[in-house]
Amino acid sequence: MDRRDFLKTTAGAVVAGAASPVVEAMSAQRRDGPFAAPPIELVRIGYVGIGGMGSAHVNNLLKVPGCRITAVCDVNPERTAWAVQTITAAGHPEPAVYNRGPRDFERLCAEEDLDLVYNATPWEWHVPICLSAMKHGKHAAVEVPAAMTVDDCWALVEAAEKHQRHCVMMENCNYGRMEMLAFHLVRKGMFGEILHAEGGYLHDLRDIKFAKTGEGLWRRAWSSKVNANLYPTHGLGPVANCMDINRGDRFDYLVSMSGPSRGLQNWAAEHFPPEAPERREKYVLGDVNATLVKTANGRTIYVVHDTNLPRPYSRIHMVQGTKGLFQGYPDRVYVEGRSPAHRWEQAGEYLEEFGHPLWKDIAAQAAGAGHGGMDYMEDYRLIKCLREGLPTDMNVYDAAALSSLVGLTARSVSQRSRPVDVPDFTRGRWRTLPPLGIVRA
Ligand SMILES: NC(=O)c1ccc[n+]([C@@H]2O[C@H](COP(=O)([O-])OP(=O)(O)OC[C@H]3O[C@@H](n4cnc5c(N)ncnc54)[C@H](O)[C@@H]3O)[C@@H](O)[C@H]2O)c1
Repeated sequence: MDRRDFLKTTAGAVVAGAASPVVEAMSAQRRDGPFAAPPIELVRIGYVGIGGMGSAHVNNLLKVPGCRITAVCDVNPERTAWAVQTITAAGHPEPAVYNRGPRDFERLCAEEDLDLVYNATPWEWHVPICLSAMKHGKHAAVEVPAAMTVDDCWALVEAAEKHQRHCVMMENCNYGRMEMLAFHLVRKGMFGEILHAEGGYLHDLRDIKFAKTGEGLWRRAWSSKVNANLYPTHGLGPVANCMDINRGDRFDYLVSMSGPSRGLQNWAAEHFPPEAPERREKYVLGDVNATLVKTANGRTIYVVHDTNLPRPYSRIHMVQGTKGLFQGYPDRVYVEGRSPAHRWEQAGEYLEEFGHPLWKDIAAQAAGAGHGGMDYMEDYRLIKCLREGLPTDMNVYDAAALSSLVGLTARSVSQRSRPVDVPDFTRGRWRTLPPLGIVRA
């Protein structure tokens, strides 16, 4: 029964004065269960922001069964031209084009007959685009972080609830092969009760932040505006799933600290002549930001943001329980009673027995897609859930809780690391929402 039919039935029963226990029970289940929308046979997509990440998603979506990109939007006409060429070359009909400036997505949302508006734009545009999509009856999907302030996190939650639409933050790291292996091991109870986790985004972005194209046009500016964890979701998403955040536990409060800001200044001094405008820029973002989150069930999470210093890439990716732990970079496992005492095992050795079934289902289709295949997995799952009328793997409460760390860490950093409460975006439903299952293709 879809939501509309359910409401009709419920309304009929109430009018007839017959709110039976069955109807009441179903009604409660609807309130408490995760949001699902009526199934969509062919998901029509408007894609907004076709730069580095957007073009990767466009390429994936052309291979995912059951969807069509019927409209494309970018402020840069070269990017919409690329999308038209790529979509038609794949044998799909030519999409409508919106490239009349930074608010042309509003026209796309208002005029196009779409099921989903998916955006991979600079951070400042994520929320306006999602809100416009939902206001016009479309589901929204957005790159990470979904929002950069706590108010904007609430705006997404309120719009999704008001318009009864999905608003999904596309956290691809949740679908990483090793992240899904760790999640599967947690679900199998291999690590016992999970007590602590660590994650982060530790990526030397100096050349990208100073590039004359792509993220160089907008990402560095945030380093002048906000001293916080600007990009918390890659590290947090996978461990939040392992800890059932918003589904049995939730982020309660955090404390955050940033160190000095040196990396971008030094890089500008080394790469630009003295008269270059980049040499006069001032940065407030501490090169390393470290945050501790306490959950409502008393567990702890350590989250780091580190993008301005020379270093190899890491997301840390650690989940620890009463019986063992997973630790990434490099991927290692220790299971008491199974691993040699006090010695790591290679996580890869666990893949055959414990690899996540989703990877077993569609690893071949995902091969060659961005970030080792995980980007294809997330796009595939989004479309499948929409087509089958299922709750999405990640929902608007996850988008809000994970993204809220940007605004909350800024607040804590600016107040001598004072503890800051994380809002309960579920308004109490985290206690009853079911844990994320072992999803399949
Ligand atoms: N999940 C990941 O692994 C991952 C990796 C890279 C980037 N991202 C995220 O993807 C998003 C985009 O990053 P990117 O690297 O693709 O940046 P990018 O600069 O390469 O692409 C952004 C695109 O948006 C367009 N754009 C800007 N303002 C617009 C507007 N108002 N309307 C329509 N189009 C607009 C730009 O012209 C550009 O083509 C960001 O949120 C970023 O955090 C995620």
